Amino acid sequence: MDMKTNEIPDLGTTIESVLLPKLHPVVELELKRIGLAADHGGFELKEYLKKNLKDAGFEVIDFGNILINDEDDYPDFVIPLAKAVANKEVDRGIAICGSGVGACVAINKVPKAKACLISDTFSARQGVEDDDLNIICLGGRIMGNSLAWELVETFLAARFSGAERHRRRLAKVAELEKNNKQP
Ligand code: RB5
Repeated sequence: MDMKTNEIPDLGTTIESVLLPKLHPVVELELKRIGLAADHGGFELKEYLKKNLKDAGFEVIDFGNILINDEDDYPDFVIPLAKAVANKEVDRGIAICGSGVGACVAINKVPKAKACLISDTFSARQGVEDDDLNIICLGGRIMGNSLAWELVETFLAARFSGAERHRRRLAKVAELEKNNKQP
């Protein structure tokens, strides 16, 4: 195509469709309600993040545990959180156990919940932009409060790009959920 510099080709598109990214049909531009869940391994980090989120103006829904109980089991808290995210009762979720691994494995059994154990800001952002991550999993025993908060801020600031190649990949993953019933 013979194009002069700075010339936008006329492809029959509106200026908005050129300048704005294609948005995911269900993407929430403004996130308000954030769900939190943790077992005993993540309780203290959950409480720290809860305060920071409230101070930052978010509505926080705490799925427990509401006290430290060394005998509690992470699925009892992170699965209800995952269902709430999948059903859009909350906009995004934060799930914490000792390592973040158990929470992540459990949550990804819930259709439409997309969770990943995150420990770097690149993945916290790109996980949302490319993979439509809706729940961040953190390890309460493996990271400090400040890093955890930075990861949460990055995760909450990111939005799914809606790019066709990412939708195509996600559709292949969603295909696996077709015959799954919500537990
Ligand atoms: C609980 O002791 C611990 O196993 C749990 O918090 C988590 O780390 C599992 O992945």
